[in-house]
Amino acid sequence: MYVDATLGGGGHAEAILERIIPGGRLIGIDRDDDATAEASRRLQRFGEAAVIVRENFTAIKEVLHSLGLSQVDGILFDLGASSMQFENADRGFSFAAAGPLDMRMDRRQPVTAAEIVNRRPEEELAGLIWRYGEERWSRRIARAIVRARPLSTTTALAEVVAGAIPRRSWPRGIHPATRTFQALRIAVNDELRNLENAIPDAAEALREAGRLCAITFHSLEDRTVKHTFLRLSRGCTSPPGTSASSSQERRWLRILTRKPITPSPEEIARNPRARSAKLRAAERINEVEQ
Ligand SMILES: C[S@@+](CC[C@H](N)C(=O)[O-])C[C@H]1O[C@@H](n2cnc3c(N)ncnc32)[C@H](O)[C@@H]1O
Repeated sequence: MYVDATLGGGGHAEAILERIIPGGRLIGIDRDDDATAEASRRLQRFGEAAVIVRENFTAIKEVLHSLGLSQVDGILFDLGASSMQFENADRGFSFAAAGPLDMRMDRRQPVTAAEIVNRRPEEELAGLIWRYGEERWSRRIARAIVRARPLSTTTALAEVVAGAIPRRSWPRGIHPATRTFQALRIAVNDELRNLENAIPDAAEALREAGRLCAITFHSLEDRTVKHTFLRLSRGCTSPPGTSASSSQERRWLRILTRKPITPSPEEIARNPRARSAKLRAAERINEVEQ
């Protein structure tokens, strides 16, 4: 039994069901209803072997519990937004075509990018663009956004951001608004906190020797995975997702990838979107230290 915690269009899920666990079962989780609809179509031929759940992956334990399961053999996180989300202008993830300032993966949630862009104080905007975009021009960008408010489209926002960065400092090879868009997306979807909370619960949901894999696409995600894996591999009080203290220290994971696995030049040539991908893997252990 495997869990694909970031089902998207179901590409990984399909490969897992076909090649890794033929005849086995998979639970696919995604909080985006476009993703669950697309994956349902793609995985239809597997019948009851593929169970699709629209949920936040932070609820992984509850999802398993509701299906009468407590432990699984493998869990995959393929993080960030999907091609489907980026390519549909109406979702507002991309500045490549005009769309509403939305960026919600789960459209049931109230906070959109428009709410953050048009209502948050300048200081808060600058802080989140700095923290989640690692953008050195965050203050100037926040000031320009506040002056241009209200903004309603992705392309209008991208123009304001580009105009706020001196042309000689535009990053090479990416649009000058890329970092700001990343920051807004992370903030709208609370991506890093969700990840930090979900990994310990995922570790707990694995059977002994079960495997946890995470694919990240930028340094903030990778750092979060690396540090959370390290914490769970060094011993912490149980259960790993809480701060409850206990006299026993338990090591939950053994890290299998000291350095992350990155795609080969051939793979990048075939799939340019993979160029910044990093894969980290860990194995569930059950060691108690007195
Ligand atoms: C990079 S895509 C995954 C693509 C997928 N591996 C495939 O083969 O098509 C990431 C997916 O994770 C989903 N996602 C991101 N954060 C999530 C969360 N906290 N809970 C549930 N789904 C999430 C997004 O909605 C998106 O569909």
